[in-house]
Amino acid sequence: MQSREIRQSFLDFFAQKAHTIVRSAPVIPADDPTLLFTNAGMNQFKDVFLAKGTRPYVRAVDTQKCIRASGKHNDLEDVGRDTYHHTFFEMLGNWSFGDYYKHEAITWAWELMAEVWALPKDRLYATVYQDDDESFQIWKSQTDINPEHILRFGDKDNFWEMGESGPCGPCSEIHIDLTPDGSGKELVNVGDYRVIELWNLVFIQYNRKSDGSLEPLPMKHVDTGMGFERVVAVMQGKGSNYDSDVFQPLFDRLTEITGVSYGAAMDDQRDIAMRVIADHARTLTFALSDGAMPSNEGRGYVLRRILRRALRYSKNLGYNEPILHQLVGTLASSMGDVFPELVKQQEIVKNIIKAEEESFIVTLDRGMEIFSEVVATLRAAKGSMIGGQDAFKLYDTYGFPFDLTTLMANEVGLQVDGEGFERCMLEQKTRARTDRKEKQQVGDDGAEWLWFSDVHASVFAGYEQLEMPVVITGAKQTGDKLLLVLNRTPFYPESGGQTGDRGFLANARYRFTVVDTIKDGDAIFHVVTEAFDKILDTLVSLDDISLDELELTVNASVDRCVRQDAERNHTATHLMHGALRHILGQHVQQKGSFVSAERLRFDFSHFSKLSDAEIDAVEAEVNAQIRQAEKVVKYADMPYDEAIAKGALAFFGDKYSDRVRMVEVPGISVELCGGTHVDNIGSIGLFKIVSESSVASGVRRLEAVTGSAAEKLLWNEYRELQQVRHLLKAKGDEAVSERVAELMEAKKELEKQRLEGKISSLLTMLIAELEVSPDINCCRVITKVVDGVDGETLRQAVLALREKLPCSAGLLCTVDDGKVSLVSFASDKAVRVCGIDAGKLIREAAKQVQGGGGGKPEFATAGGKNIDGIPKALATYAESLNALLEQNRDA
Ligand code: ALA
Repeated sequence: MQSREIRQSFLDFFAQKAHTIVRSAPVIPADDPTLLFTNAGMNQFKDVFLAKGTRPYVRAVDTQKCIRASGKHNDLEDVGRDTYHHTFFEMLGNWSFGDYYKHEAITWAWELMAEVWALPKDRLYATVYQDDDESFQIWKSQTDINPEHILRFGDKDNFWEMGESGPCGPCSEIHIDLTPDGSGKELVNVGDYRVIELWNLVFIQYNRKSDGSLEPLPMKHVDTGMGFERVVAVMQGKGSNYDSDVFQPLFDRLTEITGVSYGAAMDDQRDIAMRVIADHARTLTFALSDGAMPSNEGRGYVLRRILRRALRYSKNLGYNEPILHQLVGTLASSMGDVFPELVKQQEIVKNIIKAEEESFIVTLDRGMEIFSEVVATLRAAKGSMIGGQDAFKLYDTYGFPFDLTTLMANEVGLQVDGEGFERCMLEQKTRARTDRKEKQQVGDDGAEWLWFSDVHASVFAGYEQLEMPVVITGAKQTGDKLLLVLNRTPFYPESGGQTGDRGFLANARYRFTVVDTIKDGDAIFHVVTEAFDKILDTLVSLDDISLDELELTVNASVDRCVRQDAERNHTATHLMHGALRHILGQHVQQKGSFVSAERLRFDFSHFSKLSDAEIDAVEAEVNAQIRQAEKVVKYADMPYDEAIAKGALAFFGDKYSDRVRMVEVPGISVELCGGTHVDNIGSIGLFKIVSESSVASGVRRLEAVTGSAAEKLLWNEYRELQQVRHLLKAKGDEAVSERVAELMEAKKELEKQRLEGKISSLLTMLIAELEVSPDINCCRVITKVVDGVDGETLRQAVLALREKLPCSAGLLCTVDDGKVSLVSFASDKAVRVCGIDAGKLIREAAKQVQGGGGGKPEFATAGGKNIDGIPKALATYAESLNALLEQNRDA
């Protein structure tokens, strides 16, 4: 069977068993701060397992795009070295949400593998969790697996967890023995490529909380995951995943590009390199097609490292040019029928990868230099071991895998400190984990909820109505806040970049101030920071409110002004998105969006800074559209495919269900969007871009304001300008900017003249003083404080003074803005004949004013902060100078 037939037969098998076929979620998790990448098929159902969300079906099946290159499930360092690990892979999975359990999960898995796919039964092994007798018995009595092939394992192998926290439970795995003689029993779960795991059946029954404890879930679920690439290889009779038709097109293309063919031997350096490149090209292409970008932090950083690892390996193929972007088209044509985003996004993905590759090739050369420097320093110190930190720096900044650094070190007869390297890796992981923990959601603090009803989900009913009577269904005190869940609510919860609504909840007794609204699964939290007791006519502390006695019926009212301002900004974001695509090109894709009542921020793919003319054009187009005052049409519930067929822009990387909300401004814009919008774009009033910047390579950011905020901004600017016109006494439509430029030019000229005047009079004064100053051994000497001049004027004057008398030297001092400036000079003759060094002398003097400085024998300057030290500085200088001159006379 071809791989696409195998994928389809899995989906069909479970569809026949009443499972709904769902789409793969993006590899970039939409709203899970605990994950950088989707790492299992169950991620998109996490809310269902945790009883926070529901689906219109209880059985599901899909193929899920997964990336395991960070966090708990990380296979990065194994990729290439063996033949069955990948950073990107497809996970075939079937699920039961509180419906069937172990019996069906196990017997159906066996039916598919042993009967439908007819894999050799005598080569299959089933593992179960150490004390899971139920699963053991099901395998033994309900399937015809060899009972000797049912093995028990502990937590490490047979207890599956999604991450540091989240749904988890015991599991039962199916492994296949690929040894030539079927002697692989001892190799189950030892990480040998000849006996590999194919399918994991997880019986989800706990939630691992962030404090590490296990909490039983209200219902039991089934979550299974089969490695698609592995099962394809096995069914196609290939010894390695990379030999199947999934990878063939990539290797053919690589051979075309580099002239190297694949398949020499498992540990052949060029084979390893080709596996790494093929795998990493898949990861990058899928991640970028779902909206990720390489960057310096978080997932973008993981992707950047993956790209660098691949490029480093490409050197082993004797290929030093950007290579990965050349595989994007291959993937689009070989997998685009199953994952259409690869085709849609292919141009932009290719460009981003190419730009990253080009910039890294420069870094890589720099990394080679760093390696040589490390080796040279080590040799000079007669060492033989490259430090863990150096190896880590090469890994982290320059993309050198540890094994590569070791290899290069060995080549020049050196070792690498592996333990030190591991320590650095661990520190980095701990940092990443802390980062993720900090992003825990509001309310996830372990405090107990008080539920007044069994229904924990809230209905958002606020697209049209901003006020309504509602019922509190749950409450919780958390820190200095109170969280309230309502049965239905007009408050829009923060999502899709639009901030949560603010407003009030009021019953007969209290009025609660809601400062934010947040979604958690199907529940909507109203974040309350203040309660006003209407009877006592005072503010009350939230701690003093007894939740048990709370009157549950309340009137919810959203702050209209805040909501409407946010709506203006949100609809304007859609208009701007459209205008950017007209003006800059269709490669513009939304990369991120933030909409609040105050302003909007929009990140999008584009390679260069927007020129003033482009920004003007975007503003002009959006404002012209606003003046057309078109109605906004909102389709509350539309099939996803129909919306896409209508040309709706979707934010790649967002998780859309089969039915979506579509927002259309006829003839102008159509997008999938769950946010709230104005009814008529005319009410946006005015649109003004306030800033343009870069967020990552290939991603630009625009910020803009609308409505009264835009009006206020422009009025303020206008008033400022009127003031300027008034001051300039400008006539009619005279262009004042030229007048201002002329005035500034004239001012500069005047300042220059003034400075020259000051220098010249100071110089005259200093010459006069010098002429009558003591003459020691034919040298005129001056040490003096000059009042009322700044340091620069003094320096200029002293420079001019130097050659006014044939032989002279001295120290001049001024205090400017509380700081002491010292200037010391010696004429050519004083330097040559009398051996005076102005630089040396000033250093001594500067110490007296707690300062420092220096210069040449002819001219030197210094600064200091101790004004009281000036007399001493002058005296020290005079003393040393006199001594020198006297010494010369004696000589
Ligand atoms: N969620 C399980 C896994 O990823 C099926 O292995």
